[in-house]
Amino acid sequence: MNFQDKVAVITGGSSGIGKAAAIELVKQGANVVINGRRENLLAEAAKEIDPTGAHVAYVAGDIADPQIAERLIAEALSRFGRLDTLINNAGIFIAKSFTDYSAAEFDSVLSVNLAGFFHVTQRAADVMLKAGSGHIINITASGVAEQPIKAVPSVLAALTKGGLSAATRSLAIEYADKGIRVNAVAPGVIKTPMHPVETHDFLAKLHPVGRMGENQDIIEAIVYLEASKFVTGEILHVDGGQSAGQW
Ligand SMILES: NC(=O)c1ccc[n+]([C@@H]2O[C@H](COP(=O)([O-])OP(=O)(O)OC[C@H]3O[C@@H](n4cnc5c(N)ncnc54)[C@H](OP(=O)(O)O)[C@@H]3O)[C@@H](O)[C@H]2O)c1
Repeated sequence: MNFQDKVAVITGGSSGIGKAAAIELVKQGANVVINGRRENLLAEAAKEIDPTGAHVAYVAGDIADPQIAERLIAEALSRFGRLDTLINNAGIFIAKSFTDYSAAEFDSVLSVNLAGFFHVTQRAADVMLKAGSGHIINITASGVAEQPIKAVPSVLAALTKGGLSAATRSLAIEYADKGIRVNAVAPGVIKTPMHPVETHDFLAKLHPVGRMGENQDIIEAIVYLEASKFVTGEILHVDGGQSAGQW
């Protein structure tokens, strides 16, 4: 059990990949603190993650807000006494032609995908540096960010998730001798509430293997990274072959 007795903070833990990861981590013996903006969704997710409530806590609010980031890390420490793993999972995706993006969309994607990484990671790193150990996992993106797809123009995903990949490697080097590992999972298109069911046939074709990914595919990568003590600065592609080339 890679997560036995560990404490993990998962941003965007009320839906999709984040919720599925929280369920698996608690199954593996972890305590988790999840975050999302909608409190009702978060409370429902917390019940699903651990009906007893003993191994889950939540903090509602926008992860781009430094005060929410602060509260999230404080909750992990006050409720469970430590912080081992941060999963930066909250993120939004808006696909459209470059000139169609509004200034408000630009602001909101940068806010969630970048400020939402920055503030909470800074606070988590403070705690991990004092402890001399920790693991930060960033959920980036594969195809749309690194192997752009003509049919899905999405430069804001490339800008933010590509930046997150670069930041993963940068922090991995900064912290390599401090006991803190920093890795990323770069998903292809995963079946989550982010994608309406009627788009699934189209989205499946965006992968060389011919199918969309499942939450379980991403969870397996998270579990692998947590267990792999010699792995840091890795961008683990879980994308049905998207990043391998053209098809
Ligand atoms: N699904 C895919 O195909 C795919 C592919 C590549 C990468 N990813 C990445 O994987 C991550 C999870 O995606 P998903 O598909 O699981 O998405 P999802 O089902 O839409 O869940 C997103 C989660 O993030 C939370 N969230 C969004 N904005 C937030 C904010 N400002 N502050 C705090 N929480 C916020 C949402 O809750 P609230 O809305 O209540 O805040 C929700 O819990 C994202 O970073 C996404 O970019 C997904």
